[in-house]
Amino acid sequence: MCKIIAVANQKGGVAKTTSVRNMAYSLGELGKRVLAVDFDPQANLTASFVDDSTSVHITIADVMNKAMDEEELPNKVEYIHSHGKVDFIPSSIHLSVVEANLRMEMGSEKLLSNILEPLRDDYDFILIDTNPSLGPLTINALSAADSVIIPINPEYYATMGLTDLTKTILKIRKRINPGIQFEGILMTMCDMQTNLHKEVCAEVTEAYGNGMKIFKMQIPRSIRVGEANRYGMSVIDFDRKSKAGLAYSEVAKELISNGNKANS
Ligand SMILES: Nc1ncnc2c1ncn2[C@@H]1O[C@H](COP(=O)(O)OP(=O)(O)OP(=O)(O)O)[C@@H](O)[C@H]1O
Ligand SMILES: [Mg+2]
Repeated sequence: MCKIIAVANQKGGVAKTTSVRNMAYSLGELGKRVLAVDFDPQANLTASFVDDSTSVHITIADVMNKAMDEEELPNKVEYIHSHGKVDFIPSSIHLSVVEANLRMEMGSEKLLSNILEPLRDDYDFILIDTNPSLGPLTINALSAADSVIIPINPEYYATMGLTDLTKTILKIRKRINPGIQFEGILMTMCDMQTNLHKEVCAEVTEAYGNGMKIFKMQIPRSIRVGEANRYGMSVIDFDRKSKAGLAYSEVAKELISNGNKANS
């Protein structure tokens, strides 16, 4: 059965894109059929997948426009591309225009859901990378998702904003998508040698650990991540021994073992 997972945090630079890229890769290596959806106008995820052999004509922005205009959607082969064992839907800066239009469109929260639902039979996991805001794009992603992963970078301001995010998710559950669950908080860029990181991790566990799963595996901070991103590779593909890459493989295994029992 397919699980659609949104990776969301309105705070920028907490490793949403890096997590989608690496979880998708690891799930693919573990034999799962994976689709990664770039739903951020910055199109960072797209940049990490696209190489010279891929020509991108239709992006998620075009598909969203068709959905908004109630037009027939393009054939999926026109906008779903493959990179190794992972399929992806690219984004582009035009998605920011879509975002502006979504603000004026009534009942538009389910447009992405309508695009992804027919793809469920093709995949075990659909991962959605979101933009750093709680605007209409993220709301569309959360409305399409069975669960949400919240990456957190354990810096001083990490937990600020988490309350707004959880409130938004609970509102979406009440008003639009009753099935959405919390898949878990994922600690990224961790340096457990520092007291600050230990304190923030303890703080998050205390504040959210009772109601929300926190992934057992924390992603260590590693220079390899930036290097791999630069070459459009997953970390583990870039360096088989990278601790961050191995950590993402463990997260992928946790995701598979979570199955459909994400907690509320
Ligand atoms: N484990 C890590 N160790 C070191 N650097 C990391 C790690 N994870 C991510 N980074 C770096 O942190 C930066 C932000 O990562 P990323 O782009 O994935 O965040 P994001 O949440 O998607 O950002 P945005 O909110 O802008 O979409 C990137 O430069 C990335 O290479
Ligand atoms: Mg990003």
